[in-house]
Amino acid sequence: MNRIFSGIQPTGNLHLGNYLGAVRNWVRMQNEYECIFCMVDLHAITVWQDPAELRRSTRELAAAILASGVDPKKNTLFVQSQNPDHAQLAWIFNCVARLGWLNRMTQFKDKAGKDRENASVGLYAYPNLMSADILAYKATHVPVGEDQKQHLELARDTAQKFNNDFGVEFFPLPEPIIQGAGARVMSLRDGSKKMSKSEESDYSRINMTDDADTIALKFRKAKSDPDALPETAAGLEGRPEAANLLGIYAALSDRTRDEAIAQFAGKTFSEFKKELTDLAVAVLSPISTEMKRLLADPAQIDAILSEGAHRARAVSNPIMAEVQEIVGFLKAQ
Ligand code: TYM
Repeated sequence: MNRIFSGIQPTGNLHLGNYLGAVRNWVRMQNEYECIFCMVDLHAITVWQDPAELRRSTRELAAAILASGVDPKKNTLFVQSQNPDHAQLAWIFNCVARLGWLNRMTQFKDKAGKDRENASVGLYAYPNLMSADILAYKATHVPVGEDQKQHLELARDTAQKFNNDFGVEFFPLPEPIIQGAGARVMSLRDGSKKMSKSEESDYSRINMTDDADTIALKFRKAKSDPDALPETAAGLEGRPEAANLLGIYAALSDRTRDEAIAQFAGKTFSEFKKELTDLAVAVLSPISTEMKRLLADPAQIDAILSEGAHRARAVSNPIMAEVQEIVGFLKAQ
């Protein structure tokens, strides 16, 4: 049986990278598989979060996920901190995974920057919590953007080491699902950096809450180059911004990048950007309208998430009972 798990941090706005790299694929998978989708607030606090802002962002993210089409009746949608099993399994994995493995994690290096000594311990151990998120449900498949690939490899190594150490065939080795042109959406200001919530300039990303004028302005200002669009993929060599914008167009229109290249071959950036804007507005504006409607009733969002947490615990509790038995913990009477 395939069980899907994926997570997203409730920090700042959901942006186009999260949508194309992850959430849109969640919507597509929900009819075929058992899906568990988690808003990972324990991960979020590995860097400082203002408490009121975290609460607001968590509800806003839930609204964005629901508005994108994730059906909370078919899937389990919940907040990580409402299921303590994640934190408990993460501790066990802190004792299974090796320091050397975590030292290789490029995301920690990027996020901690030069001031490593001052990064939280949580930021360093973050990948173990991510392994726990997935394995507390024995999930077999994990849809993510390309930036999470290394963390998924660590989750597989950890599952394997746990199984070997304790002589069991207990955890599955989860497979990443990294799909298509949306798997790596880059910054609109610099085609060599990924689109992210943490980049300072808001012009670097399209947020799901941006209105049509803002989307148009951001694409108009998006970095490009003076040449017309190429006729073949080879013509995108050394043109990261053109490659990124064509990739975004392809993902939004459900085409391959080659199809997008053929469609705009020889066109100027300004012609292309206009079509890109129209398409982005057509896809995103119904989502932001629905988000606003959902956010008008925060109690309803909280109720959906509580129900989700209840279902999540029902899946993870028996798995964790077995983990405790395997590790040698005494059962509470
Ligand atoms: P996060 O919150 O940074 O991103 C959520 C999802 O969006 C994808 N993504 C992108 N995809 C394409 N282009 C981009 N520019 C881009 N930026 C982000 C991410 O790959 C991710 O799929 N550690 C994870 C959250 C997490 C998780 C998990 C994911 C925690 N536990 C367990 C899967 C399974 C993260 O920080 O994602």
